[in-house]
Amino acid sequence: MNYKLVNGTFDILPADSHKWQFIEAKIREFMSTYNYKEIRTPIFEYTELFKRSIGDQTDIVSKEMYTFPDSKNKSLTLRPENTASAMRAVIENNLVRENPQLKTFYIGPMFRRERPQKGRYRQFHQFGIEASGPKSAELDFEVILLAVRFYESFALKNVELEINSIGDLETRQIYIDALKKHLNPIINDYCENCRNRFNTNPLRVLDCKIDHEKNQNVPKITDFLNEDSKAHYERVLELLEFNNISFRENHLLVRGLDYYSDTVFEVTSSDLGAQSALCGGGRYDYLVEELGGKYTPSVGFAAGIERLLLSLEANDYAFEERYLDLFFVCMNEKTKLFASKISDSLRRSGFKVDMDFCNRSVKSQMKYANKINAKYVVVIGDDEINSNQITVKRMEDGEEFKTSFIELSNYLN
Ligand code: HAM
Repeated sequence: MNYKLVNGTFDILPADSHKWQFIEAKIREFMSTYNYKEIRTPIFEYTELFKRSIGDQTDIVSKEMYTFPDSKNKSLTLRPENTASAMRAVIENNLVRENPQLKTFYIGPMFRRERPQKGRYRQFHQFGIEASGPKSAELDFEVILLAVRFYESFALKNVELEINSIGDLETRQIYIDALKKHLNPIINDYCENCRNRFNTNPLRVLDCKIDHEKNQNVPKITDFLNEDSKAHYERVLELLEFNNISFRENHLLVRGLDYYSDTVFEVTSSDLGAQSALCGGGRYDYLVEELGGKYTPSVGFAAGIERLLLSLEANDYAFEERYLDLFFVCMNEKTKLFASKISDSLRRSGFKVDMDFCNRSVKSQMKYANKINAKYVVVIGDDEINSNQITVKRMEDGEEFKTSFIELSNYLN
């Protein structure tokens, strides 16, 4: 039998792993400058957590979760996202009592049984932030700003911030009634998915890709906001304007998870095709209560790392090349003894060093050194060992320097 990857998953191979490491390092750098601390939650949780948070009628819960029984017949699910788990951990560890403006971030794999296509996978990677405690428009703004500045730091073109407010729970119910009234006479002209959603999750009719045009005249949810929600939303927009952050109000943006309230946003890229959301998030003030904790207003977003990589590719982003400081070309067994000892000493001083393990000819060792981007090469034969005189070759221009083993490190910078 030939073993193959599971459909919708992929390997991150050695040739590409540096791109992931670079992005992850950048994420960590951003998180530290905005004072977010990492939270790592398990890859699986009790299924009920996701059902309760994301919502029974959402696509994620109704058809995309990887769910399995554990030994005590409790149902477990591979996390389809990390907000629910983060809030479970907040409640379980009383994190907001310890810190009234708790800021956490995460990076890791998520699992959704979606139909695979460009930018959509069954195991994908997100980084995200969750800020819990204050109900503050300034915090919404900071969360959005982090996302915007993050993408800006890669000089990505064709990126747009879209924003909307879906108000509180009461507003939403009033709006849904108005929306259904508007859609009722015309819903039969919509796609099958929308016709189903009309009954199960009417808000999601708004972000249907197929019937996008038909939705241009639906009532605007922002016209239904109560005073508090309206003031909150206007303050977020004011902060964006004051800081010269460009954005587009998208009245059809409602997001695919049930826990949101008030501010919702996405950063989209027109380089991505159908799966255009680089990241998405918003405020979710009632989730912690829903999960059995105290009222804990929260706001956050999550971003797909694969989609960032796709946009970087579309923008011809130049990742820094990987290199090795030194490769030892060894002529025989005895010279390998020396190479092993000197490699050890150089590595302990922080140099990246490698040598031949395949007994290749000198010529093919040189070729290999070139292929793996070694900056310098030293050929060690018996003469070099006997005389303690070696030649360091700079691969970039072929320039050679004579030195001793002991002084070798001086030539490597
Ligand atoms: P989401 O919109 O479901 O939100 O996912 C966030 C991002 O994850 C998307 O914008 C996309 O970049 C990426 N993504 C989602 N599904 C896939 C997939 N199948 N393949 C590749 N990338 C994907 C959430 O997950 C919320 N937890 C965000 C949040 C955090 N809201 C508040 N805090």
